[in-house]
Amino acid sequence: MKYAGTLVAATAISLISVCAAEGYTNESEVPYYGRSPAVYPSPVGNGTTSPTWEEAYRRAHSVVAQMTIEEKANVTRGVEGPCVGNSGAVPRLSIPSLCFADAPNGLRGQEFVSGFPAGIHVAATWDRALMYRYGHALGSEYDGRGVNVALGPVAGPLGRVARGGRNWEGLGADPYLAGGGMVEITRGIQDTGVIASAKHWLLNEEEWRRNPGSMGESLSSNVDDRTLHELYAFPFMDSLRAGVGSIMCSYQRANHSYACQNSKLLNGILKTELGFEGFVVSDWDAQHTGVASANAGLDIVMPDGGFWGANLTMAVQNGSVGTERLDDMVTRILATWYVTGQYEKYPSPAIYSASELHAVVDVQADHADLIREIGSAGTVLVKNVNGALPFTNATRFVSVYGYDAPVSASPWTNPSRYMGGYEVNFGWETYNGTLITGGGSGGSTPPYVVSPFQALQERVSRQRRTLRWDFFSEAPTPAYVNNDACVVLINAYASEAFDRTSLTDRFSDNLVNNVAKNCTNTIVVLHSAGIRTVDAWIDHPNVTAVLFAGLPGQESGHSLVDVLYGDVSPSGRLPYTVAKNESDYGSLLNSTVSFDAFPEVNFTEGLYIDYRAFDRQRIEPRFEFGFGLSYTTFQYSDLRIEATGNSTSPFVNPNVAIVQGGHPELWDTLIHVTCSITNTGHRSAPEVAQLYVHIPSGPVRQLRGFERVPLEPGETKQVLFPLTRRDLSVWDVVAQQWRLQTANYTVSVGASSRDLKLHGVFEI
Ligand code: NOJ
Repeated sequence: MKYAGTLVAATAISLISVCAAEGYTNESEVPYYGRSPAVYPSPVGNGTTSPTWEEAYRRAHSVVAQMTIEEKANVTRGVEGPCVGNSGAVPRLSIPSLCFADAPNGLRGQEFVSGFPAGIHVAATWDRALMYRYGHALGSEYDGRGVNVALGPVAGPLGRVARGGRNWEGLGADPYLAGGGMVEITRGIQDTGVIASAKHWLLNEEEWRRNPGSMGESLSSNVDDRTLHELYAFPFMDSLRAGVGSIMCSYQRANHSYACQNSKLLNGILKTELGFEGFVVSDWDAQHTGVASANAGLDIVMPDGGFWGANLTMAVQNGSVGTERLDDMVTRILATWYVTGQYEKYPSPAIYSASELHAVVDVQADHADLIREIGSAGTVLVKNVNGALPFTNATRFVSVYGYDAPVSASPWTNPSRYMGGYEVNFGWETYNGTLITGGGSGGSTPPYVVSPFQALQERVSRQRRTLRWDFFSEAPTPAYVNNDACVVLINAYASEAFDRTSLTDRFSDNLVNNVAKNCTNTIVVLHSAGIRTVDAWIDHPNVTAVLFAGLPGQESGHSLVDVLYGDVSPSGRLPYTVAKNESDYGSLLNSTVSFDAFPEVNFTEGLYIDYRAFDRQRIEPRFEFGFGLSYTTFQYSDLRIEATGNSTSPFVNPNVAIVQGGHPELWDTLIHVTCSITNTGHRSAPEVAQLYVHIPSGPVRQLRGFERVPLEPGETKQVLFPLTRRDLSVWDVVAQQWRLQTANYTVSVGASSRDLKLHGVFEI
């Protein structure tokens, strides 16, 4: 075997098993599988990506040139409080401390800020414009409170593990969908002047032993080079291309080396191949060495546990870390601060602890309207029979069941639920109260929560109808015989710090079945932090409609009622695959639980996660990736494929310089695919058109285009899907470049990954 000679025995065994795994027939596809080749020295940022970066670097250089070693070391050294992270200041040169804050779906732990929908919910809208507006609204709240660095958006975890605890923070289990979200949210946040920090780089796909502890080192995610590029780094490339100023390195080991001291990931892929101009910040307490992390490309530590500060100064003085490296660390931080214009206008942070007396800075503006809109746009209708939805004037008597209908007893009952503490509670499958966000540092702090029950009450009272409820019984009695519809609300909870132990729970499944036994029009609403299986009741003839209502944020009830009553036609689409049986996820169901001193997980499935795995193994899912119903019907027609005339040479031009995001030609559009979509029904509604390509030597199909198209009844619109060089390339592990294969490519456009309506072929 080509690489086996250089491997230590244990790794060689992993390599052999990977070659044998179905995804790969050739060991050249896994050149550094399980290893992190050394890449030194750390590339020095220079701002060549754009004139704006160049100017920012020029300013940063001139300030850094005036700093002492101690001052430089101080800038790279984070501390906690008042913000979740604060960099060191240099008052003599007017360099302030920068404030870093969570979370990706709203400023955490504060009052008078909004609780936005979670990432997974935004992904379920498949709407680029909403994704941008989401980022922009979030950014303006951070900006208004003087936060310099927003700790998001999230593209890792991607969703490799069905029960992963943090999948809901990310943007769905597909790199193209997540990448689309990363572009828009990054731009949205940074257009307000806030620095976004795309996280977690890289391969942090599960919570189990993400950190070292009494059992030993953290888990090592071992992945081959091709998969690393085509799946996990892919959405980060989009964020980089969109100009992201910061990247957060992750907790766990990646190919055996801790992510925040992994020179291959930081110096190699991020700063060389992808031309990153900004700075790398550690996840909190993810630094495990001083000199090694500095030389591997970490630029700022959060918070400093003692490795840096005076020790970094000493390391520079004794030559273990070059002066050039320290200068680069500080230059990158300051250049990013300059490039976003923060040096000119930034307010001081208005971040408070709950007991502090302070003048209120209310940053909510009109974001509630956007939150409501995204809330309903990301709601996915997966079953609707007997005309169950939308409700009509004839819907006069509605009963509401389930613990997810009202708000929780108090947002303080378990602060971590909304406030983002760190609970380790295995087997905690549901949340007692309506679920609008997940737990841990990604949890938002809503100013209020409109529960589904409240919103239904509002609607019913306005229409002078009747509502009955029972929130807590597992077998509600009496059954209301005269009612028109029974809405059952259940949820599936997940949090940072632990992975889920089930994709379902018995109490909720019993509740649905018990209601359905007595009610011929049972509508199930599921708020869930990720995948939730539904086979315990989905085929029950009395279960007439089912909504995956995600994690919609503070306006939850309004968003839901807008869909139930037909003010909004559902257009959300699943950003993951819902299996019939949990076992259908195979080895990707659970996180790898290991008690070894050096635990590891081998990503032997390669590219085949989520729908790619179901397609390859011909497993019929319950609801496929991209699936969702509408209140109207659509017709697809007129597929056209046109080459743009851009070069289709196998490799990019080596004489063109790398810019942030990678080689610029990777974003050249090579093919235009267009089709027409007509709303053939009677309601105005958006359709989410999806384009899948079979890239030779890759999965059966991969998402490479999506567009949410609003259509009036009878209206037809043309949709354009531009396919870029990167969209069609494979990562060539020998050439260490993206390679466009000379081959035939099959392209399909449709309403989901399995409801493909138009097909074509083009040749490159
Ligand atoms: C740890 C989490 O992994 C990260 O996402 C978060 O931003 C930091 N803690 C800070 O709270």
